[in-house]
This record gives sequence, C-alpha cells and structure tokens, in this order.
Amino acid sequence: MDEVARVREKTDLVALISEYIPLKKMGRNFKANCPFHNEKTPSFVVSPERQIWHCFGCAKGGDCFTFLMEYENIEFGESLRTLAKKAGIELTKSSFQTGLSTQKENMYRLNRLAMEYYHFVLTAHSVGKVALEYLTNKRKLTPKLIKTFQLGFAPKGGAALCGYLMKKKGYKKQELIDVGLAFEGRGGVVDFFRDRIIFPLSDARGNIVGFSGRTMGDEQPKYINTRETLIYHKGDLFFGLNIAKDEIKKTDQAIVMEGELDVISSYKQGVGNAIAIKGTALTEHQVTLLARFAQKVTLCFDQDSAGYEATKRSLSLLEKKGLTTTVITFADKDADEAANSDPIAFKKAVKNDIPIYDFIISRLLQTFDKSAEGKRKISSELVPMLSHIENEIVKEHYLKKISTALDTSYESLYREVEKFAKTKEQDVSVVFKKQKQSRREMLEMYLLSLILQSDKPHVFLQKTEEILKGYTFATPAYQKIMDMLKTYLLSHSIFKSEELHHVMPQELLQTYDMFSLFPLPPFLNDEAYTQEIEKVAKELQMLSVKEKLQTLTEQIRAKEKSGEDAEVETLKKEFSTLLSKMPK
Ligand code: UTP
Ligand code: MN
Repeated sequence: MDEVARVREKTDLVALISEYIPLKKMGRNFKANCPFHNEKTPSFVVSPERQIWHCFGCAKGGDCFTFLMEYENIEFGESLRTLAKKAGIELTKSSFQTGLSTQKENMYRLNRLAMEYYHFVLTAHSVGKVALEYLTNKRKLTPKLIKTFQLGFAPKGGAALCGYLMKKKGYKKQELIDVGLAFEGRGGVVDFFRDRIIFPLSDARGNIVGFSGRTMGDEQPKYINTRETLIYHKGDLFFGLNIAKDEIKKTDQAIVMEGELDVISSYKQGVGNAIAIKGTALTEHQVTLLARFAQKVTLCFDQDSAGYEATKRSLSLLEKKGLTTTVITFADKDADEAANSDPIAFKKAVKNDIPIYDFIISRLLQTFDKSAEGKRKISSELVPMLSHIENEIVKEHYLKKISTALDTSYESLYREVEKFAKTKEQDVSVVFKKQKQSRREMLEMYLLSLILQSDKPHVFLQKTEEILKGYTFATPAYQKIMDMLKTYLLSHSIFKSEELHHVMPQELLQTYDMFSLFPLPPFLNDEAYTQEIEKVAKELQMLSVKEKLQTLTEQIRAKEKSGEDAEVETLKKEFSTLLSKMPK
C-alpha cells in the first residue's frame, strides 16, 4: 500500500469532518449543511462505510484529502502531510518533498519574504523613516501594532524588492511577476508597490496571499492591491482575519469594517474581533468563511450612503446563512476616526450594536415622510427585507413595529410580505432542478438510494421486484446497477456497500456512490420507509406502463388506418396484458 492509501486508511472521515462541522446520523450516512455553499437544508453527505463525502447541492465531493483541501483551501501535499501527522504516519522524504514544492506554497513563501523585507525597511531602514513617521504621528500607530500587523514600506526606487528577491534570494523574474509583486517594464522588471505603506493580506490560516499599499499623499488611487493571482482573490479574504480569528471564535462575533486602518485602530482600543472587507461588497464566499467562526456578524461600515447601501446588500447574504446581523454606528466617518478621536465613546458604540432591521427601519423613517408616497417608498424597501427573515417571531416583531411607525394595519403589511415571498423562487428540491432530470429518472435514483441505504436491502429489493414487473430503467446505468445489486444479494446474506463497490465497473462507480450518498428524508420508522419504497416503485411502474400504453395506442391507430387487422389484434392483446401490470 502506498503512503497516500495508508493515511486514508488510518483516517476516520466522519471524525475528521466532525472537527469542522456538526454531522447528524441519517440511516447509513451522516448529513450536514454544506460548508462550501449556502444552504438551509442539508445536502452534504458523508458515508462512513465508503469513507467518502458528497454535496448534492454544489456537487463537490471526495475523500479525506479533498475535504481538507477544500475546507482549508490547501493543496494536496499539505493535506497529505496534515493527515499523516494526525494519523501518526511518517512520510518518506520523496513524497514529503513533492508536497512542499507546489506552486502555491512557493508563492506563499515568496510573499512572506517580501513582507519581511517591507517590514524591515519600515522599521529599521532610513528609507522607511518618512513612512514610519506618517504611521506613528498621523495615524497614531504604536511600534507594537506595526509589528502585530507586520506593516511595511515599499521604497520609491523602481526595483528595490525585485533586486533583493532575485539577487539575494535567487528567485526568478517570472516568479515575482506571477505572484503579483512585480511587472515587466520597458527597462526590465519593476516593483508593483512603490513609495507606499504596505499591509500584508493573509488568508485565515496565515498564508500571505497579497498586499495592499497606501500612498502617504493625496494621489489616487489611495490604496492599490495585488492583482488577481493564483493565490489572491479579492472577494475571498478579510484583512486581519488571521489575527482576529481566535477572538472572533471566543466572542462568537465578527465585526466587519471597511478598511485596514479601521481594524488596526480598533485593535488598539482592545477590540480584537474586527476584520475588513477592504471597501468591496461582502461576498458569499466571505460569508461562508465567517460562518465557520461566529454566529453573529456586526457590520461597521462608513456612515455615508455608500456604507448604508453596503450594509443593506450584505444583509440577505448573512440572513441566508442563518447568521445574526447587527450594526455599529458612531458620529465619525469611520471606525479609525472614531477610535482615535474618542476611545471611550468608540468602545461604547461597539458594545451597543443594534439589530440590523432596527437600523434600517430607523434610517428609512428618517429619510421619508409619512405621506402615502413616503409610506410606499418605505414599505417597498422593507418588504423584500422582511420576507428574508427566517424566524417567524422575529418577523412578526418587526411587522408590528413598522405598522405602528407607518400607521398602517399589520394585516396589509403582512399581505405585502407574503405576496413578495410567493414571487420569490421557491427552492424545493434544488438537487433535482439543477440536474434537469425527468420525473422517472429522479424517482429511479431515489428508489435505488432508498434500497442501497436501507438496512434491509434484501427485503426491499424483493418488494420492489414484486411491483416493477417487466420494468426497464430509463437510465441504462441505473439498470446495470440494479442488476449487479440483484446478483450480489443472491449470493450474500449481508449487504456490504464497499464489497459491491469493489466489483462495480469503473464507469458506474460515480453513479453508485451517488446512490450510497443521496440525502434521504428522515423516516419515522421501518413501516414508513417500506411505504415510501412501495410508493416510489408504484409510481415508476405506472409511469413506465403509461409510456408503453401510449406507444401501443399510436401503433394500433396506425395499423387500423392501413387496415392491417391481424396486427391490430395482436397489439390489442399486448395492450390488455400491459394494463394488468398497472400497479394497484
Ligand atoms: P476608504 O476610502 O473609506 O478609505 O476606503 P479609509 O479606509 O478611510 O482609508 P484611510 O483611513 O484614509 O487610510 C475603504 C477601504 O477600501 C479600500 C481600502 O482597503 C480602504 O481601507 N480601498 C480604498 C481600495 O482598495 N482602493 C482605493 O483606492 C480606496
Ligand atoms: Mn479612514
């Protein structure tokens, strides 16, 4: 057995995934809300027998290695090393080395060197003196803060960093360009960041993925950021998450701010759970990331209309993920200014975060008057928002509050919200819709999943066969799996999913896995399970008989037209035999 297989063998997938998300036992499998996309009903399934996982909502899936790669956003090599360590397996040097020299890890290393270089220039070199003065005098940062956030300075000259990394550290020009630290100029390679304060940007695990650079003067743009690279995606990260992570977990709250200095100044005042989206809109990816660390997200955006819009936009994403959302407001423009101008008032404001709905409602009431037109405008903003509220009690609370404030009846407001909710797309059985299957295919898949995931496949297969007389599966692959299951069960009194998996031809494996994992609804008892199987089998039999009757009817009509009486007779006989196969 090779090392990868040994590590996989020694890793218990259910235990591993349980460290990250809560799993719930459902029949032979475990279920959870998928950590890789937003959902409210679980379609993420783990099979302990097969040691595989799959999400029927976003179609991601795999084994222990791929789970860790997806969840931690790491490469195979690192995932292997992490799990080997957990399993107490020592990897041989060769597989250890191939893991180490992946392109992404090389880029992280390169960025780390750049960060150390910039930090050195800022804190210990005469070239960084002006920048250091700007940070300490103008922005009121302490040496300790500069160290914690590893701030730096990029010198003015065209290729200071490039020179250092290429001549002293032996990196190639292309490597610097690929990671976004340099670009090709007319006279050779040029540093991307020049004459700017540097803020390292890292992912939640502390890998340096890019940088932002602020000018000390008034020129535009004020901030520039690393362009999109293999490891830097703007909408994926939060500034400061690597530092704030533990505090966010501890307080179960993440405070989302706009910029780097908002976060740093908050940290200075003892608010250690703040992170920044860097002036862009909150993305679904970021919300998914946050949900891993805290239940409450507090938005602390600028007190201008852009900040208000950003707050509103973020709400539906957060609500979809089931996170509690609150808002912090203060008199100053942003958190950085508030924290520096009046630390006590700042800390008080942070403690007095208000539910986002209260914030939006009071803002709307201030903006519009209570004329009919004003009321219409207010309700047209509020109705979509209220329809997103998951909790009925919370919803009612706000409906009452708004109807009182607007002096309209609770009922008319309630009706408006209901009307809006109806027009929204209803996400019943997302799984099926995505795959665009016919009802027959869908039922076939469901039936096979019910049989394969039951604890009595022998009994249920027999039941099914009694109902499905002369039935052929619409999907050939399903038919093949059914045939193989029959053969297997004939010679085995105990069904072991992985045994059948071993004899299954390659091209059927994926489909077979899908049946083993497909998320089934909960059943009260064995009887309910049996009834469901019967119900599905009967509908399938009926659909198939109906289809055949339809074809026969057309054939009979054609033969009658051409006067082939003998043929018509045979077909009619066939017709009545078929009819008798209709399930009762
Ligand atoms: P702001 O314009 O509100 O700047 O942009 P700020 O945070 O108050 O910056 P300071 O206090 O003057 O230094 C909010 C955030 O948007 C990003 C930065 O991360 C900034 O902190 N931004 C802003 C850019 O990426 N590029 C820009 O040109 C401007
Ligand atoms: Mn600012």
